[in-house]
Amino acid sequence: MKNVEIFRDKSCLMRGAAEAFIDAAGEPLRSRGRFSAVLSGGETPRGVYELLAAEAFSEKIDWSRTHVFWGDERCIPPGHRDSNYGMAAKTLLSHVPIPEGNVHRIAGEENPEEAAHDYQETLHRFFAESPERGGELRARFDLVLLGLGVDGHTASLFPGTGALAEKTRWVAAQYVNALNAWRITLTAAAINDARRVLFIVSGKAKAEILRRVLQPESGAKDLPAQLIRPAGLLRWLVDEDAASLLFSRE
Ligand code: 6PG
Repeated sequence: MKNVEIFRDKSCLMRGAAEAFIDAAGEPLRSRGRFSAVLSGGETPRGVYELLAAEAFSEKIDWSRTHVFWGDERCIPPGHRDSNYGMAAKTLLSHVPIPEGNVHRIAGEENPEEAAHDYQETLHRFFAESPERGGELRARFDLVLLGLGVDGHTASLFPGTGALAEKTRWVAAQYVNALNAWRITLTAAAINDARRVLFIVSGKAKAEILRRVLQPESGAKDLPAQLIRPAGLLRWLVDEDAASLLFSRE
């Protein structure tokens, strides 16, 4: 399938994703002098961040001109064990020379609506520094990393939530009934402005949802991950376990 790259196992997938991260940094740093990367939460990217923290990888990134953001955050303090910021800080950011001012976390500890507003203001300020031709403000992230939930969610865009219909705001605060919790998330509108979007999907548990997302003829048409159709490049980096149902004909 086009734009799907299958890796033999999770270890190869993690390496492939770390190499794709480094590859995504090259052109922005050369042509615009900075690299903006949106990190994903959850467990899958942990191994990618650990690899990027290793010298063989980290020395290939100019961290002084790299800015990191998050695709979503749980509404909890940054030190909470479930914090997406906390996971990235522990596995990657505390090991590389990225300036503190280049780390743009979502304030999960604040009131969700206020945190969403503040994060959106941060993004507006960041991208206003490099306006598109015509001055239009676009969330032109150089790279967005995304995961995939077994219900077809990505970032914190969950099935049946209002954030899915958001066409103009870049950030939404969303109470997720399925989790009985608030989340803050980039909207599909913001993600689709990105120059490059990489989904990273691993494991047999994701095989069925990956098939449904990538093969709409299977009947799924309204899964949140299917809203991600960036004008830029979209690639799925998956391991063989996650891809195991992709070619079944049932
Ligand atoms: C989060 C993520 C979420 C994640 C998927 C997959 O905050 O949890 O943004 O979208 O990517 O739920 O999670 P796993 O990688 O843990 O399977």
